[in-house]
Amino acid sequence: MNPFTFYNPTELIFGKGQLEKLNEKIDQLGKRILLVYGGGSIKRSGLYDKLQAIFEKKACHVRELAGVEPNPRLSTVKKGISLIRENELDWILAVGGGSVIDCSKAIAGGALYDGDVWDFYERKAKVEKALPLGTVLTLAATGSEMNKGSVITNWETQQKHGASMTFPAFSILDPENTFTVPRNQTVYGISDTLSHVFEQYFSHTTEIPLQTGFAETIMKTVIENARKVLQNLEDYDARANLMLSSTFALNGLLAAGVETDWATHSIEHAVSAVYDIPHGGGLAIIFPNWMKYVYKENIPRFKRFAVEVWGVDPEGKTDEETALAGIDAVRAFFNEIGAPSRLADYNIGDDKLGVLAEKALPFGPIGNFRKLGKEDVREILRMSL
Ligand code: NZQ
Ligand code: ZN
Repeated sequence: MNPFTFYNPTELIFGKGQLEKLNEKIDQLGKRILLVYGGGSIKRSGLYDKLQAIFEKKACHVRELAGVEPNPRLSTVKKGISLIRENELDWILAVGGGSVIDCSKAIAGGALYDGDVWDFYERKAKVEKALPLGTVLTLAATGSEMNKGSVITNWETQQKHGASMTFPAFSILDPENTFTVPRNQTVYGISDTLSHVFEQYFSHTTEIPLQTGFAETIMKTVIENARKVLQNLEDYDARANLMLSSTFALNGLLAAGVETDWATHSIEHAVSAVYDIPHGGGLAIIFPNWMKYVYKENIPRFKRFAVEVWGVDPEGKTDEETALAGIDAVRAFFNEIGAPSRLADYNIGDDKLGVLAEKALPFGPIGNFRKLGKEDVREILRMSL
């Protein structure tokens, strides 16, 4: 196990009816609020009206940034920063999925920074202070509700970069707020959650039984509850288990003491920077191909994955055959839940593979399980066509 520091200050408020806790958060953080949300799902679900009732009761002064895009854009972040400055707001309430939360984190850091907020995403500056941020999560996927990552797209330059911005002070997770997530977005959330575990599970760090066990339990929980939720999108327990799994998949727990990979995320971010596809859809296409490309680096780890997570019977198989059967099981599961399997599903051909490979490595080689250069990325993309 490697040395590590584990720090996570986000207060997690989980369960049915927990929106009420927003009242006390307003008492703590102030009444001048920037409310950030997406393209309208919170209005259709009735969540917006519930928030308005709380704001009214507390006599809050609320400004709104509506219309945050999936794959949130730098231009939208800048609008939010202006709203904060013009209205002298105390804190930000993000109500939505990862895009709304990531955009809000960028605003929180950018509002207290004199330079261009994109500096953080180009690794030219580090966040020293940020406005407080609270979230009401409506989609189980990214884990952004309990980590400090933020991924923003600069549409002018077609760059999608992540930065370490700020932890939410609190996050309210009511599984019922995810009942309205449509089937396709539910599937993308499932594939994103599993991918986060894959990025941290495929590691050469040894003697990590606890982290390995946590990761395997999250994966098995996601697989089981994915099948349940796709039978009934309003299955409370399935939604709750998926929500908790996605939050714990990327809140620092699995990475404690472990060398992690993240190459597949870099590759997917390049694809969505250029083609604006859903993050979870891109991952479902690329991840099994990354696995096929790198599994020989550590066949015992892939064998364990096949047996423990996917129930592959190793009897009569070589270790390599068992490992490959596990990778096939990942592909089969993504197919079963209706995730895309080829870049062609998004009408992406081979014409920009070079550009994508460039964009996937903005700061040098990627990955740790196996270090990947541009040619490797091109090959994985070619396998994904
Ligand atoms: O915009 P609205 O109308 O709200 O609709 C959204 C959006 O169209 C809809 N939605 C969300 N909650 C809903 C709902 N529809 C009905 N009912 C609800 N309750 O779902 C669509 C997708 O939302 P989005 O926030 O884009 O999805 P997700 O949570 O998957 O976030 C994706 C973004 O997060 C980044 C991705 O790259 C992508 O930009 N990531 C952030 C990470 C982080 N901060 O830690 C890590 C991830 O790996 C990822 O890169
Ligand atoms: Zn992800």
